[in-house]
Amino acid sequence: MPKITDAAGAYARTFIRVKRLFEDVAAGQPAEFRGLKRAVLSLAEAARADEGRLLRLAAVRGYGDELPRHYTNVCVLSLCTGKRAGLSGRRLVHLGMAALLHDIGRSGMPDDLFIGNSEPDDQALELLNTHPVTGFDLLLRLRGLEDDAVPEMLVAYEHHMNPDGTGYPPRKAERQPDVFSRIVRIADNYDSSTSSGVYGKLALRPDKALELMRKRSAGYYDLELLGAFARMMGVYPVGSLLLLSDLTACVVCESGGEGEGYARPVVRPVAKVPVPVDEPEGGEEGSSAEYGEGVEDEFPVGGGPPEDLSERDASGRYVRNITGALDPSLCRMNVTAALLNFQL
Ligand SMILES: [Fe+2]
Ligand SMILES: [Fe+2]
Repeated sequence: MPKITDAAGAYARTFIRVKRLFEDVAAGQPAEFRGLKRAVLSLAEAARADEGRLLRLAAVRGYGDELPRHYTNVCVLSLCTGKRAGLSGRRLVHLGMAALLHDIGRSGMPDDLFIGNSEPDDQALELLNTHPVTGFDLLLRLRGLEDDAVPEMLVAYEHHMNPDGTGYPPRKAERQPDVFSRIVRIADNYDSSTSSGVYGKLALRPDKALELMRKRSAGYYDLELLGAFARMMGVYPVGSLLLLSDLTACVVCESGGEGEGYARPVVRPVAKVPVPVDEPEGGEEGSSAEYGEGVEDEFPVGGGPPEDLSERDASGRYVRNITGALDPSLCRMNVTAALLNFQL
């Protein structure tokens, strides 16, 4: 039986605790924050000791329970970004708690407001846009959070505000959101745009989501923090599906950093794609359905041995070359198994 690592255990405990807490708050039951805080402490420790595994867990998609997984993923991504921004100790744990509770104002709202294949209508949107104020109010009134829970309340209130003064709730442009809110804004946008269903949108490819965030970065995000986040994720973030020039499809399992790994990640091959693919990069989403056609399962479940795409041969040329990214949601390839069983 595979060993449950500290990082996987911390992720699972946080997921279970936050799911229960949102259910309790929605039902008007007392909220249990102590267990949640212990789980966040272990997640913060895992972010320090085993960041790669946490990022792989946060890249897993499907399997239901989208909302509690969204909260847990935003917590993971915020902790890893906060750590890079120099936060540690109590500050990092506060950031993790604030990230987990950022959407607490949604508890009590019907799930089908957020989960589904269509955009919310005007009435739903109006209700949805009240969640920062409701969240702030809830955290103020809930017993069990410590007296110094100001960061959690601020993030619940500010996580949809943009540095250029747009976003909601409305505010004076001169007053910038707190640094925790700016970190959670980035983690929240990345996770929701790469997950299908959250806010009624279809999932974007991880590299596309990041590219889009960078394109609109000036008004939407704190540029320094977005830079740290983008360096952490790399050009092809963990969970991306790549097509190599020899038509091998691979799952990105480690990416980012200052060196060549930023654009040339560590991958696991999952399938040979025998049919030629015209335009994997930038093609229409619908055309990607062809990638799955005729796939031969040459690799074990979970993929073949890890390959470092920055590896060069004796003449200094790269051994493998990336043709482009594929859309995992349109391919019949087991991205999850490759992410969960990855070991170097
Ligand atoms: Fe939100
Ligand atoms: Fe969110």
